[in-house]
Amino acid sequence: MKKIQISPSILSADFSQLGNEIEKLEKCGADMIHVDVMDGHFVPNLTIGPPVIKALKKYSSLIFDVHLMISPVHKYIEAYSDAGADIITIHPEATDNLKSSILKIKELNKKVGVSLNPKTKTDVIIDFLDQIDLVLIMSVNPGFGGQKFMPEVLDKIRELKKIQNNKKLNFDIEIDGGINFENSQMAIEAGANILVSGTTIFKSNDGDIKKNIELLKSK
Ligand code: DX5
Ligand code: ZN
Repeated sequence: MKKIQISPSILSADFSQLGNEIEKLEKCGADMIHVDVMDGHFVPNLTIGPPVIKALKKYSSLIFDVHLMISPVHKYIEAYSDAGADIITIHPEATDNLKSSILKIKELNKKVGVSLNPKTKTDVIIDFLDQIDLVLIMSVNPGFGGQKFMPEVLDKIRELKKIQNNKKLNFDIEIDGGINFENSQMAIEAGANILVSGTTIFKSNDGDIKKNIELLKSK
């Protein structure tokens, strides 16, 4: 059984204080930092790019779990690797050749993540499961924090877990979107071992980040 890890999404952090917010997350027990990169094209929102990630790296020694919601993604992979991304997660719809984009990330010695939107089926990635380190299951349509959790994606996690056990593979299963104190346990029981959360961590319990991370882990 893999250790349950919490990857707070800084999309819900105070963007005028991102360095301090990241420092706080590490002090409050986060296992990694989920950095949502949005280009206003693949998703209808725009956030940060390589220069900001590079600047943020000095505020924490935690793994930067970088979620690239950008397309086309292939030609930008190296820039995010150089900026300090440790896990680079891409969407299959954002590349012409998923195999070569996965290879590119591996060549750069980074961990490879592939993200499935709520409507995207697992068969898109079945053939690559032995080459990737992480599957990111979206439980909201990507683009914004604070959206409502879509429980139907839990079946996708259960399906992936079965395949993982049958093929004796070891990729992480991360769930992202609308994770809160009511659904985190369901996500873990379905097979997720990394929980992304933005709103719940930064806004619940008067913004008591340490308490919110502990509650998500322990639920
Ligand atoms: C949405 C992002 C998520 C989001 C999670 O496109 O990928 O990481 O920020 O935020 P909450 O936990 O508020 O849904
Ligand atoms: Zn994300």
